[in-house]
Amino acid sequence: MIRPLILVACIGLSGFALADKPEITSGILELKLPYSVTPPTGSPERVSKLEIDGKDHTSPRILTRTIKVDPKKGTDTVTVVYTYWPYIYTRFTRTKVVKVVKGETVEVSLEKADPKTPDKIYVIYYPTPIEVVDAMCKLGSIGKDDVVYDIGCGDGRLVIQAVKKFGAKKAVGIDISAERIRECKANAKRAGVADKVTFLEKDALTIKDFSEATVVLTYMSDSLNEALRPKLQKTLKPGSRIVSHRFRMGDWKPKESKVIKAKNNYGDVAEFELHLWAIEEE
Ligand SMILES: C[S@@+](CC[C@H](N)C(=O)[O-])C[C@H]1O[C@@H](n2cnc3c(N)ncnc32)[C@H](O)[C@@H]1O
Repeated sequence: MIRPLILVACIGLSGFALADKPEITSGILELKLPYSVTPPTGSPERVSKLEIDGKDHTSPRILTRTIKVDPKKGTDTVTVVYTYWPYIYTRFTRTKVVKVVKGETVEVSLEKADPKTPDKIYVIYYPTPIEVVDAMCKLGSIGKDDVVYDIGCGDGRLVIQAVKKFGAKKAVGIDISAERIRECKANAKRAGVADKVTFLEKDALTIKDFSEATVVLTYMSDSLNEALRPKLQKTLKPGSRIVSHRFRMGDWKPKESKVIKAKNNYGDVAEFELHLWAIEEE
């Protein structure tokens, strides 16, 4: 009689153990992260940051990270957001939604952007010297029939000069920074052109249509220019021009490139590279 009793007790116990076994919800992510440059002196904030589902995982700042994650109830994914500086003047925010396999390790590379969640790109503020602004307006042949856009307009100097000195009929400055846009509005008022210029506080990468512009001026970065290029090529009308201070547009060959000598923001003579593209008739 003892043996069956033990058996029943054992079955009972194992059933109890099975019913009570906690469900594994977590998985492991093995992340490969792109390199972030050492911040320049005086800008310690230009460093990388890693978040998963809003939780900070920045430390340690190494390029391969193994992190245990627990998707929120009812989902099997987590959102990885990596902010980094590929160059000292450009910040990328890269997002990837990752499927977690419970109890297993998943390799995830953030070295390339996910087309489903495009990168956010930010370029720090650094103004174009006014002599160079004039050279950009000349290269773009700005005149009275033009509507001029500056993508990433800083303190508004390019669009203000395009209207005030080169006679453009209208100009639009776009900048992601509220502080810059406030400066732009005050500067346009001071220059007496507030009725002809408009400033938009926006991320340039969210703008879908540039068709109003006949000339686009810009001083951003190679990566931001490349990200903007498809929308510019698709929406600008034939005859429109793009003038970029220093940066190119991927493999889109400029119609003209030149190097000019002018005083930089410290008053020293320096060389500045300018590029012109034109939208041709189809
Ligand atoms: C290098 S400054 C150029 C300013 C001005 N165009 C000039 O040449 O004097 C770049 C400007 O772009 C703005 N900016 C950076 N990322 C941006 C983005 N994604 N969308 C719109 N503006 C952006 C910055 O706030 C900054 O004012």
